[in-house]
Amino acid sequence: MTDHNRTVCIITFGCQMNKLDSEVMRAELAGAGFGLTEEPDEADVVIYNTCSVRQHAEDKVFSHLGAWRRRAQEDENFVLGVVGCMAQRLGAELTQRFPFLKLVCGSRAFLRVPEHLRAIMRGEGPVLDIGWDGPLRFARDPRMRRSAHSAYVSIMRGCNNFCSYCIVPHVRGREVSRAPEDIAQEVRALAADGVREITLLGQNVNSYGTDAGKPGLADLLARINGVAGLKRIRFVTSHPKDVSAELLRAVAGLDKVCEHLHAPPQSGSDAVLRAMNRGYSAADYRKMVEQARRIIPGVELAGDFIVGFPGESEDDFRLTLELLREVRFQQSYIFKYSPRPGTRAALLEDDVPASVKRERHRLMLAAQERVDTERRRAMVGSVVEALVDGVSPRDPTKLTGRTRANDIVVFEGPCELAGQLVNVRLVDSTALTLFGHLAG
Ligand code: 5AD
Ligand code: SF4
Repeated sequence: MTDHNRTVCIITFGCQMNKLDSEVMRAELAGAGFGLTEEPDEADVVIYNTCSVRQHAEDKVFSHLGAWRRRAQEDENFVLGVVGCMAQRLGAELTQRFPFLKLVCGSRAFLRVPEHLRAIMRGEGPVLDIGWDGPLRFARDPRMRRSAHSAYVSIMRGCNNFCSYCIVPHVRGREVSRAPEDIAQEVRALAADGVREITLLGQNVNSYGTDAGKPGLADLLARINGVAGLKRIRFVTSHPKDVSAELLRAVAGLDKVCEHLHAPPQSGSDAVLRAMNRGYSAADYRKMVEQARRIIPGVELAGDFIVGFPGESEDDFRLTLELLREVRFQQSYIFKYSPRPGTRAALLEDDVPASVKRERHRLMLAAQERVDTERRRAMVGSVVEALVDGVSPRDPTKLTGRTRANDIVVFEGPCELAGQLVNVRLVDSTALTLFGHLAG
């Protein structure tokens, strides 16, 4: 069999970075002559691009891998592989647990996947590659993006922060910023190909440039804001300690940059924030929010929270709940603490019982749901700018779009509007969705 009739399916778990890495890998595989499919059962090669951020994410992959045991044992041409963070973290442990795995390839080595697959097909046995010497490539073939009008653009890899609970710096390595010219060139190519909205990605996007003495995120935004055809620019994820006034002024002053900051507080308790090694206090976080709201009228914030961190008392938790209610986040992602072997927090006793974590998680979700409902209800009657995604997956007679604040809005209109900016008068809302009519 030649590579040309070998078909690969990549299944992606985890964050936007992983989704983008899978797009890069697909482009690489297609360029090397492999076929691509979205149907795992039709593929000769199934690759999982994995996430290690919580045990739950890893458990899902373990159960998927287990389900391939029979085919892997019966079909000697079948190749099963794991790439990304779990491969980096677990390495040979994965092949010990799943002896039928033929490829284990880490977060920095994934561009070598096509070459490893060829070696495996020549009968050169299973491959384990978790080296840090892999080539770096940020851009992918624009055609591999997931949507016609929106695309992710990677501007850096890795993280230097070592928050005590987080596996990311261990599995994705230190920060490496991509050259601004290279980013601008990819954005121009995407815009020329019909992309209207780009989201700049980095684990700690607002420290962009500091590793290489390059211009920072504010300068990069200014540069990209001039790209013809592009309508919107987003960037995730910002570290609260690195949200500078300069960045806020750039968001306020650049017309395409959306007034939305994803800046995870993680906790509202100073004791917990210290133990998490976050580098700010709850008061610092509030100051950052106050400054953002002063400099960028109408800015919305999104946040991540971890409940049940080691030592989190009832009082600590109440402070977190209070912060969530007070800031009134546009969106909150709430996670139960999951110890990650190799991190500093994993040395602490995971002493908040599972039932308490569950209850705190539930209370946070309920508080956010209330914020969601009230926030969207208060928007009814106003007119918002929406970038039209396309036909609503839930109701084929309607279109969906996103506001600048990243809220989903549903309205009637012709599907030719996909990819365009429209004004929508809001007439109704639920906790997570706005409904309206096209306004002149
Ligand atoms: N346990 C629970 N949540 C975690 N996160 C990162 N590490 C852990 C962990 N060990 C959360 C943080 C981060 C988001 C991507 O995942 O809230 O912002
Ligand atoms: Fe993990 Fe902290 Fe880096 Fe985010 S900033 S990736 S939470 S270490």
